[in-house]
Amino acid sequence: MSMKHLTGINNLTDEDIAAILELSQDYADTLAKRNLPAPLSRGRVVLSLFFEPSTRTRVSFELAAHRLGARVINWDQEHSALVKGETFDDTITTLNAMRPDAIIIRHSEYGAPDYVAARVDCPVINAGDAHREHPTQALLDALTLRQHFGQLEGLTVAICGDVSHSRVASSDIQLLSRLGARVRVIAPQNLMPTSFAVEGVESFNRLEDGLPGCDAVMMLRLQKERMGEGLVESDAAFHAQYGLTLERLNLAGKHAVVLHPGPMNRGIEIADSVADDPARSLILKQVENGVAVRMAVLDLLLSE
Ligand code: NCD
Repeated sequence: MSMKHLTGINNLTDEDIAAILELSQDYADTLAKRNLPAPLSRGRVVLSLFFEPSTRTRVSFELAAHRLGARVINWDQEHSALVKGETFDDTITTLNAMRPDAIIIRHSEYGAPDYVAARVDCPVINAGDAHREHPTQALLDALTLRQHFGQLEGLTVAICGDVSHSRVASSDIQLLSRLGARVRVIAPQNLMPTSFAVEGVESFNRLEDGLPGCDAVMMLRLQKERMGEGLVESDAAFHAQYGLTLERLNLAGKHAVVLHPGPMNRGIEIADSVADDPARSLILKQVENGVAVRMAVLDLLLSE
């Protein structure tokens, strides 16, 4: 890897991306055969700092570290010295003084992983910051699409729903475009980003206009914790216009598949009929691939 940390897709080289995806596929194959790798990272201790709730990202990082033979300490914000008035900076320099081998961080502040990376001695991995970046999610999405379609080159992928508050969308737009996919964004105007990190992203306000011709459709939750009041009239009204039903997925084509980073809000951005259709949904495959991708990232960064 060209860099010490993984804080965003924006600072990965093309070679880094290729190396991560290749190793991720190796780990995916190894895990599928239940042929667990030899403990590469025995004795390494990884610190997991989640300042926001998480199920799949936190557990899959932890599982990935364990699969590699490393140990994980799950720092717990509620029971930390932060509640006694310690500053964030003091918490970080204190934890760094214990010499962890890597830090995984999720935080609601934009740029928090880079801020931490500048203050510690070990690699820092971004598990999602504000609406900025969620690089391992984009890498697992790319791996999942590549497994299903063979390559990303030439695919058309729509990212739909609450795009403006989504770090997943932000990382995916960059990564999928760099890997040769055409990216479309479909969102109501008040949930549409004002600009995109890469050129060539097409934007649509209606699913009916944006879906035809798509190979893959990625749905996003309404991220109400990051949203001002009144942006969405009601969950039911959002579902009526922006909920992905089987009928709407078929506008893309009968071959089109659905992805979702989770957590899903069923009946709002996605209908059960799509989420649970094993022929059309890659959602659990994304979760499965999350472990392999995080193994690859930890392996590459811990072995530097
Ligand atoms: C997302 C996140 O937290 O960024 N989930 C995930 O990590 N897979 C998306 C979300 O919260 O909606």
